[in-house]
Amino acid sequence: MKTDLPELGRFMENIAREAGNLVIQERQKGLEHQYKAQSELVTQADVAADRYITDSIHARFPGHRILSEENEPDEREAEDLDSPLWIVDPIDGTVNYAYGHPQVAVSIAYAEGGNVVAGVVYAPFVDEMFVGLKGRGACLNGKTIRVSGASDLRLALVATGFPYSKDALAPIVDRLGRVLHECRDIRRIGSAALDICWVACGRLDAYYESVSPWDFAAARVIALEAGARCGHFSDVPREKNPDLWGRDIIVATPAVYETLARLL
Ligand code: IPD
Ligand code: CA
Ligand code: CA
Repeated sequence: MKTDLPELGRFMENIAREAGNLVIQERQKGLEHQYKAQSELVTQADVAADRYITDSIHARFPGHRILSEENEPDEREAEDLDSPLWIVDPIDGTVNYAYGHPQVAVSIAYAEGGNVVAGVVYAPFVDEMFVGLKGRGACLNGKTIRVSGASDLRLALVATGFPYSKDALAPIVDRLGRVLHECRDIRRIGSAALDICWVACGRLDAYYESVSPWDFAAARVIALEAGARCGHFSDVPREKNPDLWGRDIIVATPAVYETLARLL
């Protein structure tokens, strides 16, 4: 049976909004900070929102697979193209969340045959719902969005981010230096999903970073539908799916993509 994308999009919006409410309530109650992989912050809200989203998906689509950052993080799921896959980040921007910043997002993507066909990114503290449905455009709170018309990297506002691990920062700092010399300015917002959605709606002109599938899968389809060019500045291994391969990604308004990619 053919997927009814608008109907699926409404389901995704509903669970993203509910998860967002949960995320707001948990911060009001007070957060318990824990660490995974030694240095990566995680709160009870990350785990509870992940549970809420994955339970909701399992209840509605019992046969579908889920790749979610907190509860089902086996990235090998991204390599199986045969059955539908959901990709979930319950809180993108956990450090912002723990520090009381508003740039926090719930990110939910849906893929068929390895292609992400629907993405929802919801920023609960500012009540902004970004939705992208393949072939049907992208919107923010129901209004169509488009990338900026920037054509000159020197006048472009570029976002990026940095890994939690401090082990391999040298090439990242080197790249940052090169870009900073050639663009208007840099932003480090702290949520990859929002960085990409902000490129989609013209609040930024470009974004690059290395991230995990749950950080960018939903935002990427939103950006593509808003007219962004999405790709990688290093080769994607042949056996990997570019829709879910997060190393060295670039999302940019088309006219600055090439110059930025060459610089990186
Ligand atoms: C992080 C954010 C951040 C990016 C990190 C991600 P998290 O996600 O997207 O902007 O720079 O690489 O891990 O940990 O807050 O879900
Ligand atoms: Ca994330
Ligand atoms: Ca997260």
